[in-house]
Amino acid sequence: MTDGELPRALLREFAAVVGEAHVLTGDATAGYAVDWTGRFRGHAPAVLRPADTAEVAGVLAVCHEACVPIVPQGGNTGLVGGGVPGHGEVVLSLARLDRLDPVDADAGQVTAGAGVPLQRVAGADPGLDLGVLIASRDSATVGGAVATNAGGLRVLRYGPMRAQLRGVEAVLADGTVVSHLAGLVKDNTGYDYPGLLAGSEGTLAVITAARIQLVPRPAGPVTVIVGLSGPGEVHALARAALRTVPGLLSAEFFTRAGLDVLAGHADLVPPLRGPVPAFLLLEAAGLSAAEDLAALAGDYPVAVATTPADRARLWAYRERHPEAAGFLGVPLKLDVSVPAAQWVTLATGVGEVVQAVDPGARLIIYGHVADGNLHVNVVPAAEADGRHEDAVFGFVASLGGSISAEHGIGALKARWLPLIRSAPERALFARIRAAFDPAGILNPHVLPR
Ligand code: MLT
Ligand code: ZN
Repeated sequence: MTDGELPRALLREFAAVVGEAHVLTGDATAGYAVDWTGRFRGHAPAVLRPADTAEVAGVLAVCHEACVPIVPQGGNTGLVGGGVPGHGEVVLSLARLDRLDPVDADAGQVTAGAGVPLQRVAGADPGLDLGVLIASRDSATVGGAVATNAGGLRVLRYGPMRAQLRGVEAVLADGTVVSHLAGLVKDNTGYDYPGLLAGSEGTLAVITAARIQLVPRPAGPVTVIVGLSGPGEVHALARAALRTVPGLLSAEFFTRAGLDVLAGHADLVPPLRGPVPAFLLLEAAGLSAAEDLAALAGDYPVAVATTPADRARLWAYRERHPEAAGFLGVPLKLDVSVPAAQWVTLATGVGEVVQAVDPGARLIIYGHVADGNLHVNVVPAAEADGRHEDAVFGFVASLGGSISAEHGIGALKARWLPLIRSAPERALFARIRAAFDPAGILNPHVLPR
């Protein structure tokens, strides 16, 4: 069933489950059918907004019976087209599953509905924090963050979303509910399906709630931005930080090119004087954080922040980078990672690789240097016909890297998966997927089948 209208009888069945007010059609679906970069646009014959797990189960039972494909959607902040109905799928919005339970103080854990924004989880207890910190935290939701195994700005310290998970509740393709939310730290009782659903991009089940391990709120964080000559110095200093700063939380990289765009379009005044080509933002917490970071920065130009307002000001330089390419056009957002020893080669060479296939393309790079992760934002001048992905992903594969560090495969990268996953691996993926979703109704165009 693609791109057409849904039969009225089916819409009535959906309305019987979620209520008529929560079956959206026509113009009301527009905001759910496009991603925030504007690169992925689709059409949804209906958007369904269930209120709770029972209603999600009811919707999926109807979809399964009628073979209606669906795309689950959280805050719609994804970057690879994984939450957009690119082939006329019904959108299943989890936004109304926004119940946040009281924090379990004994375990330092909380159970959150799929539609709870990450920032609400982070603020649930004054002494605790969410280990995953991403710039879109006010809109990005728990369900989406689990489904994409979101990474972000503190992975070097706490790991990605999968590492915070102590359990999930999810609805299988036929409407069956599976739930494992007790939050036991030790629990060797069969397959770790919460771990499998993390990063499955809505292809195996619809996540409706997650049990999340919170982390101690970092004490007295200090943020610095150090001015450096290029990726070589950035990488060397980040590596030194990993070894000598015990309270290190973040090691983030951006360049003059991105900063100049933000200065021109978002009124950000550069943090350091002079012609600085590359920047390393470091954040650390704990008693010796300020001295550790000062010792590390040595004679390099540096901006230091300790108050929340000053730290926010420094973070804005990095956190607004996702917007930068958007000021120049509709960007291709390529999120890649390589082994640590190859990061400098990637960061210094990727510009030439893109220029070779599109000399007029604009490029902005930034990312999570301690994770070997680089965000390559390309605003094409030539047609975006796959040549940019071919070039960048081919380069990354030649360095032994991954074509998706943390954003997922989505619709954007499905065709390049064979570059880094073997035929037997992809066959295994297909068997897992068929076991969970034999009718193929869950996000069918995300990840190749
Ligand atoms: C980031 O690190 O800022 C996010 O992954 C978003 C992006 O890459 O644009
Ligand atoms: Zn990132």
